Amino acid sequence: MFFRGAKDSHWRFYNSLPHCRGVILVLQLIQPKGSLMPEEPIPATPELAKPAPPVATIAGLGQHEGQSVTLRGWLYNLRESGKLLFPIFRDGTGLIQGVAHVKSVSPEVFAALKGLTQESSVIVTGKVRADKRAPGGYELDVEDLEIVQRVPESEPYPITLKEHGVEFLQERRHLWIRSPRQSAILRIRAEIMRAAAEFFDTNGFIRTDPPILTPAACEGTSTLFPVDYFGDPAYLTQSGQLYIESTALALGKVYSFGPTFRAEKSKTRRHLTEFWMIEPEVAFLDLDGLMELSENFISHIVQSVLKNRSDELDTIGRDKSKLEKIVPPFPRLRYDKAAEMLAQAYKDGQLEAPFEYGNDFGSPDETWLSSQFDRPVMVNRYPADVKAFYMEPDPKDERFALCVDVLAPEGYGEVIGGSQRVSSYELLSSRIDEHKLPRAAFEWYLDLRRYGSVPHSGFGMGIERAVAWICGLDHVRETIPFPRMLHHMYP
Ligand code: 4AD
Ligand code: MG
Repeated sequence: MFFRGAKDSHWRFYNSLPHCRGVILVLQLIQPKGSLMPEEPIPATPELAKPAPPVATIAGLGQHEGQSVTLRGWLYNLRESGKLLFPIFRDGTGLIQGVAHVKSVSPEVFAALKGLTQESSVIVTGKVRADKRAPGGYELDVEDLEIVQRVPESEPYPITLKEHGVEFLQERRHLWIRSPRQSAILRIRAEIMRAAAEFFDTNGFIRTDPPILTPAACEGTSTLFPVDYFGDPAYLTQSGQLYIESTALALGKVYSFGPTFRAEKSKTRRHLTEFWMIEPEVAFLDLDGLMELSENFISHIVQSVLKNRSDELDTIGRDKSKLEKIVPPFPRLRYDKAAEMLAQAYKDGQLEAPFEYGNDFGSPDETWLSSQFDRPVMVNRYPADVKAFYMEPDPKDERFALCVDVLAPEGYGEVIGGSQRVSSYELLSSRIDEHKLPRAAFEWYLDLRRYGSVPHSGFGMGIERAVAWICGLDHVRETIPFPRMLHHMYP
């Protein structure tokens, strides 16, 4: 006999805790005899209590073939065909199709399942049957069903299985993330973040967390989000870099990983106003060493996703052969050479607008450049004038900065920006003045050049840019649970 109904769901909860199961079983066996009074009528032989089916996840059904299991989740879809019902359940780990015949389940279960509404929450028990044609390799022969909450017909789940416009879905992002595609992307995102931190953790880096509230700009004053800090101005951080330069000089090899903010007025498929950045910073590292670090870091992430999130890549239809090629070494391309290639591409009619030498690359330039290679390309030594104040000039030609942008292939463009940092006190001091940065806010940063300055380098990778590329998405809005963009704050 299998428990059902409101009271029994309580028991089921306890049964799902492995350490409680034995105790409950013992009570059930002992209690009936010991508690009987002689004058009470003798009941029919109590049914022997069968152990409750184990609670399983859809992803873990391979271990339960031929067994009955209990799944806890939601109704994703329901197909009805006379005496047969084909519900599809989801539980966060995957999807599984169930089969319920009018004769194989109790009339109450059949009635409860028939006409059950999309996204109603359920606890379902059934026998796991291998089926080669099924997407996950298994089907569930439904035996029992408990409805936790039935979505009312009067107010149905808004995201049906038909196509919806992006605007509609964005307004319902809190529900949209339940769809198999969005869930797969979020799982891949989590793997990218895990692998990124793992790379540094296993290579001798110490994680140091910079503040989010800061008194000054790191990446240009035009994209600062101001905050009223008890009457004084403060800003949301654009990058942890300046702070982890200081922790690198304390600990050697460090990284930071957290949210960063840019009040970007740009409405492109690559820009968020709030995004997650992972940034390593290393004392005694030059630009060549930084490029080597970048290529090893990126290939570790991509190979980890291929290994641990292969099914999710299939769910979203990603061409995995493109990702398999992401192994070191990555091509290195000087800015000058990239500019030549862009000039030629314009002549050949492959670019709409000419690239003006001396500028930073625009989105179309980056898109074109990155689609010329099957691995990320490391464009280095941009003109110092278009790059940040803290970048070390190339001693061989001071017009250029010792910096690198890593452009992801297939037209994705910049995923990493990094550089060797100015190590001279005099140069950094004059750069702060030239860029009209508030000197007082940078005194502590200048201390790093006053006391034991060394060559050092670091980079930042935006997680969402990496997710967009690795998943093959055409917009960063699907790379983060709740994107923040120009004109977009809800939910
Ligand atoms: O190139 P950025 O601006 O470099 C820095 O912030 C350095 N301080 C990092 C460092 O050297 N420690 O940004 C680094 C990366 C970009 O390559 C991109 O991946 C991402 O951060 N990024 C954005 N991602 C989404 N939306 C935006 N608005 C982004 N701006 C930068
Ligand atoms: Mg950049």
